[in-house]
Amino acid sequence: LVTTHYKIENPEIWQTLANEGYVEMAKKKMIITGIGGPAGRAASKYLDMKGISFIGVDMDPNVAKQYPGRFFQVPAATDKGFVGSVIKIAKREGASVLLPAVDEEFIPIAKRIKSFRKAGIDVVISPLSTIRICRDKFLTAKTLQKKGIAVPRTLKLGCKPSSIERFGFPALTKPRSGRGGRGITVFDKSSQLLDMVKKFDDSFILQEFIGGKEYDVNLYVHKGKAVVNKVLFKTKLEHGNYGNASGTVPIRDKAVEELAARTAKAIGAEGPIDMDVRKDAEGRPVLLEINPRIGANVLKTPQVLDRLLKTAGLI
Ligand SMILES: Nc1ncnc2c1ncn2[C@@H]1O[C@H](COP(=O)(O)OP(=O)(O)O)[C@@H](O)[C@H]1O
Ligand SMILES: [Mg+2]
Repeated sequence: LVTTHYKIENPEIWQTLANEGYVEMAKKKMIITGIGGPAGRAASKYLDMKGISFIGVDMDPNVAKQYPGRFFQVPAATDKGFVGSVIKIAKREGASVLLPAVDEEFIPIAKRIKSFRKAGIDVVISPLSTIRICRDKFLTAKTLQKKGIAVPRTLKLGCKPSSIERFGFPALTKPRSGRGGRGITVFDKSSQLLDMVKKFDDSFILQEFIGGKEYDVNLYVHKGKAVVNKVLFKTKLEHGNYGNASGTVPIRDKAVEELAARTAKAIGAEGPIDMDVRKDAEGRPVLLEINPRIGANVLKTPQVLDRLLKTAGLI
């Protein structure tokens, strides 16, 4: 076996030779961010199960301490040293594929995609324009509405009280760039919201409450096409009729799958995508939220991870 450090000009030819058994390709290593978070933990469990080599980073020093030499601490995504630190650790540890798993990191990472490429690191992430849409729930609703995709009626707060009176209730307020079900309040009538409206500026949205069943769709998008599109039905929600799912089961639902595939295409997604979908009173699916990453429940849809690992050259 000869190890070469030359840049491979035609990776397809080498892959063919490897498939025929003439050469052996060095196995790639993955680096996962937010390794202590729900999506990061799911990915690491799967890679361990498959015996695939990876390292993890997290801003929490306690997470880094769990596996010395395998998990490392990095600055917060808002810190200007964040990207540099991830690149340094990846190079030092020989990791050449980055899987970001924390929402706050997506924009800083996508903005510096060239720095990663220069360091020989492939990043499994959607384009910056897609991420910007997903990171802002107001922009998500407005963009999809323009593309003819069903979304809840949505209003930016910090508006006139008369707009709230006219809005229609029940409705809920949530932060435009929240996550993990944080900061959500449900209002049955406009007077309840008007009583405390000063608490909400335009970093919050008011959204029509969609009252039906809820689904988590896990997709893998390749060249604009949803090549993996798996629906999980949320059997139990944290606050009864809304909130994080504490139970999910895989199901088939053509209407939900179709909405998810159209959404992925409309926003120009690439790679792993996770969506929250709910059905309205008429049973029509409505798109609530898009996370441009693997979802916390991705172990229930391993097809997404298999496709991701295959595309990234790890299996
Ligand atoms: N418009 C809505 N109608 C009904 N439930 C909603 C609506 N928006 C959010 N929820 C509930 O709140 C949960 C969290 O909201 P979501 O938009 O997914 O934000 P995040 O997961 O980023 O906190 C959803 O899974 C759902 O149960
Ligand atoms: Mg959500």
